[in-house]
Formats: sequence, C-alpha cells, structure tokens
Amino acid sequence: MRIPLIGKVAIIWVSLYLALKFLVSPSLPSSVIFMYMSLITVCILLFVSVFPEDAEAFFGPIKRFIAGDQTDSAVRKLGRVAMFAIIPLFFGHRSYQANMPSYEPPLEQRIVHPAPPTEFTGMYNPYREDHEHFAENVKRGGEVFYRNCVFCHGDKLDGTGIFAEGFNLRPANFQENGVINMLQESYLFWRISKGGIGLPEESTPWNSAMPRWEAILPEEDRWKAILFLYDYTGYKPRTWE
Ligand code: HEC
Repeated sequence: MRIPLIGKVAIIWVSLYLALKFLVSPSLPSSVIFMYMSLITVCILLFVSVFPEDAEAFFGPIKRFIAGDQTDSAVRKLGRVAMFAIIPLFFGHRSYQANMPSYEPPLEQRIVHPAPPTEFTGMYNPYREDHEHFAENVKRGGEVFYRNCVFCHGDKLDGTGIFAEGFNLRPANFQENGVINMLQESYLFWRISKGGIGLPEESTPWNSAMPRWEAILPEEDRWKAILFLYDYTGYKPRTWE
C-alpha cells in the first residue's frame, strides 16, 4: 500500500515528537520540545511546498476535508464537526489552565550559600584557639543551641526540629555532609547574626525563617554556638589553609 504524502508527514512528525519526548535523556523541558517541534513543522511545510504536486498532495486533502462537498460521507461530516469543536475547546482549555492561579512555588534557582558581605569575611572564632576553656565554651554553645535553635534545627542538629515541617525553606541540616564542613566559621557567624532577612537577593524567592540572632544573642554566644555545631557534628570548619 502506498502511504499518501500527508500520512508520511504525520508519521515523521509524530515519531520525531515521541523521540524528543521519550528517547532523549535527561528529558527535555516541554518548552524546548515545543521549540524543536515548531522548527520541525516549519521545515516540513517548506519541504512539502517546494514542488506544486507535493503541495497539492499535502494541502489538497486538508482543504477538501475542511471545505467539504455534497459527496462527503457521514463519517467525514462528523469528523469535520468534531474537528471544529475540538480545536476551540483545546485552546480554551489551554488558556484556562494558563490563567488558573497556581499554588506551586515558582521554579527559580536559589543560591543556598551566597557570598557573605565583606565585613563578615576573614573573621575568626575568638574561642577556637582557647584550648584551656574549650570544653566549657562548647558547653555554653550547647546551652545556646538547646535554648534557641533546637526548635528548628532539631535536637540532633539534623534540621528536624518541631517547627521544621512548617517552613519552606527548611531549617539547615548541620549533619549533612557539604554544609558546615564546606563553610567557614565567619560565614556561619554572618548567617546566624543576620538571619533570613540578611540574605541577599539571589537567595530569595522564599523567605527564610532563620531569625536575626544579633538582635537576641550577644556576640560571644553566637561564636560559642558555632563552636558547638562543629564539636557536636565532628566536622571541621573550612579554613583558608
Ligand atoms: C525559626 C526557625 C529557626 C531557628 C529558631 C533557628 N534557625 Fe537557623 N535556619 C533556619 C532556616 C529555615 C534556615 C535555612 C534558610 C537559611 O539559610 O536562611 C536556617 C539556616 C541556618 C544557618 C545557615 C546554614 C547554611 O547552610 O547556610 C545557620 C548557620 C543557622 N541556621 C544557625 C542557627 C543557630 C545557631 C540558631 C540558634 C541560635 C538557629 N539557626 C535558629 C531556621 C531557624
């Protein structure tokens, strides 16, 4: 059986679409698929309109189907009515969906660890080298943590405090590899002092619930809490050496 041109075009178009959708890995976002399919459609239309006989073989059946005449069978007539009903319904549905308010959080890149402001770079923990009182200072840091931070950051420091479920962004998990062992103490001091409202633009859109502790805790308690975070988790702070 000879497949008419319009059938071949349909097969090529649909197989290219399916290939883009299912064979490419990692899978393409639908906007990219839309872009490719638009290009493919344009190419196909160019291809079928080069020669008049191809153009007739391709556009002829479409024109005759849309225009119709007395000899049309009932099935063809029904098909036409269905087509004219489905197209506006389809676009109506699309624009309805597009205008419905969405409760999904916007998909934006958020920088989790933005660069700290210059006044917080290169600070060092004044209690880090105080070996004589180290245990005492860690203990004080623990008190600070369990009085202030535990509700969000959890009693095991893994970010699962009783309030944690209520927040998006979730409280930081200090046990996770790649968090505090990748950060300098001066960085933590900045984040603890300035909290969520101290985060720069690139770390929005979601607001962090992290309080601005400089308004609540004296500087020495903030440093000692940091000492405790590293001591409890066993991680070493990142240093320049
Ligand atoms: C009301 C809940 C809440 C409390 C209480 C809280 N935090 Fe947080 N904290 C958060 C949230 C949410 C984040 C994650 C978003 C962000 O980075 O701001 C965070 C982030 C942090 C970070 C940044 C970690 C990183 O990877 O950049 C540090 C450090 C931190 N908290 C320390 C503390 C300390 C110390 C205390 C107690 C003095 C404390 N937090 C109390 C909610 C809280």
